[in-house]
Amino acid sequence: MIRKMNLNDPCKPKMAVNIGGGLIIKNPVMTASGTFGYGEEYAPYCDINRLGAVIVKGVSLEPRAGNPPPRIIETPCGMLNAIGLENPGVKIFIKERLPFFKQFDIAVIVNVFGETLDEYKQVVEILSDTEGVHGLEINISCPNVKKGGIVFGTDPDMAYEVTKEIKGITDLPVIVKLTPNVTDVCVIAESVQEAGADAISLINTLTGMSVDIEQRKPHLKNITGGLSGPAIKPVALRMVWQVVKRVNIPVIGVGGITGARDALEFMIVGARAVQIGTANFINPCATVDIIDGIEDYFEKNNITDVNEFIGTLHEER
Ligand SMILES: Cc1cc2nc3c(=O)[nH]c(=O)nc-3n(C[C@H](O)[C@H](O)[C@H](O)COP(=O)(O)O)c2cc1C
Repeated sequence: MIRKMNLNDPCKPKMAVNIGGGLIIKNPVMTASGTFGYGEEYAPYCDINRLGAVIVKGVSLEPRAGNPPPRIIETPCGMLNAIGLENPGVKIFIKERLPFFKQFDIAVIVNVFGETLDEYKQVVEILSDTEGVHGLEINISCPNVKKGGIVFGTDPDMAYEVTKEIKGITDLPVIVKLTPNVTDVCVIAESVQEAGADAISLINTLTGMSVDIEQRKPHLKNITGGLSGPAIKPVALRMVWQVVKRVNIPVIGVGGITGARDALEFMIVGARAVQIGTANFINPCATVDIIDGIEDYFEKNNITDVNEFIGTLHEER
């Protein structure tokens, strides 16, 4: 399915990017799954129509309550979460949440989670028959659940299998989201590319922990959680840079991006697009501010098309 988003303003830098599988988005800035809800919560504060794409909170086949609280704790320059993929299930998502996006000219990408290969496939099958879904992001990287997710994303053979099976049953563009909690992320990236992934996004959160020294107990009920926010940006940037060199499908950078300068760094190392996550909790307009900041930088530096800028890192210092 090819979706061309609305045309660029001829007086402004060209911002449209092709993020794989024929999906062209009007600018390279999208929301990271789980940090923008299902969009509606942010509508009073953020002009959703400005975004390149929204990636919604992960959906599974059946509703999930997630992990018991406490499941969020702030850390220096970031946060730990162990939400455990709370969501209403794919059918309720389609009935009650997806219609909200009809009013916008943006791509809607649904983040998919399954505990088993069969569950991933069932969710994908349902979404593939649904109008208003323009792409899928397959979460094989959630560190906060006992089954599924990261179990697929840390084993190259399982990452291959889930990608291959999903590609066999959908015509939607498939982005596979990778975990940083591996020895060599490039091995997993190559595996999902070989299985037919249209694009790769990285990184999901880094597994971490925090202890309450008064009670000598973990802050999170789940004990461990996923670290996100500015603290992880250098790690995410390094991994995106490595993966871009090893695959030829589009790579979408995510991790700790809070401003336009961060987004530009990811694009210089070769990210075709970026996702904004934890920054939305601090500034609900973060995505729009980042789009404006990228455009300003391009105008000041006489860059007329974002595609001329992506991957222009000079490695020698
Ligand atoms: C509260 C919370 C919920 C998240 N839920 C999901 C999810 O459902 N699916 C997913 O693939 N990633 C999820 N993530 C990971 C983010 O999409 C993103 O990969 C990560 O937070 C790193 O980006 P950031 O530092 O910009 O937040 C979640 C992150 C947070 C903080």
